[in-house]
Amino acid sequence: MRASIILAALAAAPYAWGASWITSNTVWYDTDGQVIDAHGGGIVQRGDTFYWVGQSAKNSQTPMMYSSTDLLNWKNLGAQAPGVTGYWRPKIAKPNGEFWLFGQQDRYVLSLKSSNQVGGYKQSKKVHIPPSDYSYSDTGMFFDESSNTWYLLTSADHNTVQINKINADGALGDRASALTGGAYEAPGIFKANDTYFLIVSGKTGWRANPNKVFWSTSINGPWKGGSNIAPEADKTYGSQNTHELTIKGSRQTTYIYMGDAWDSKGSTGSTYVWLPMKVDTNGKTVTLDYHKDWKIDVKTGVVTYK
Ligand SMILES: *[C@@H]1O[C@H](CO)[C@@H](O)[C@H](O)[C@H]1NC(C)=O
Repeated sequence: MRASIILAALAAAPYAWGASWITSNTVWYDTDGQVIDAHGGGIVQRGDTFYWVGQSAKNSQTPMMYSSTDLLNWKNLGAQAPGVTGYWRPKIAKPNGEFWLFGQQDRYVLSLKSSNQVGGYKQSKKVHIPPSDYSYSDTGMFFDESSNTWYLLTSADHNTVQINKINADGALGDRASALTGGAYEAPGIFKANDTYFLIVSGKTGWRANPNKVFWSTSINGPWKGGSNIAPEADKTYGSQNTHELTIKGSRQTTYIYMGDAWDSKGSTGSTYVWLPMKVDTNGKTVTLDYHKDWKIDVKTGVVTYK
């Protein structure tokens, strides 16, 4: 009797104590055994801890935060900004002593801030994006270690993906560069050696498409390239880019693609696709290193496969 109850509990929440592998396109559970609900999000690392913020599909796109020290076991830190809903693709920044979230609400970027990393995020202001203040923005975030600068990435009407510096007071500064001439959204940037790589998706609503990578040797552009990061037919393994995470380990630096595998409405059936990337800064190429089950030692940066 007792054994059957335990088995039933395990069947209901097979990863109740965290996962052993990062397995894309499956439901992920937090350390309480609840489905992880943080879509369109991003991750920052502070010390040994990774903080993942994303939009809740269950609760009207309010920002949710989770923390982990291994990218496998995620603890739910709860809703971060009670009362803030319809807040899409939140990303974390820390341009000054305070903690900031930037996400899209009502076709504008809205910034929220808190004096703590976890909790207490309150509306700061509607963000106007220099120079043209175009509406509708997917938000992405990039921290450039070489200049100690945060950059907000937006994709807007008029098919403009642009990169703006976040000033020390949290306000949005000048446009550093832009990617125009194509229908792109969902931007993310990472830097390897002296090359900046910009990953974007096409604009096909909730349906996946072949995401592309552009590159530049300066954050000020121009952006070149535009090759697929996965085989065309695989449509980025059924996902859309949301963020790029760099793990600087003691043995190697590993670059991780974070994508969303949306259901037909970007709703609670949406899952995640996270994969290490093969990066060549001489050839200027980036491809997703697809493996069904993989994990990373965040201390050494070394990736292993099941
Ligand atoms: C960075 O540059 C070094 C030296 O050229 C090279 O060995 C290494 O592969 C490069 N890293 C990437 C990610 O391309």
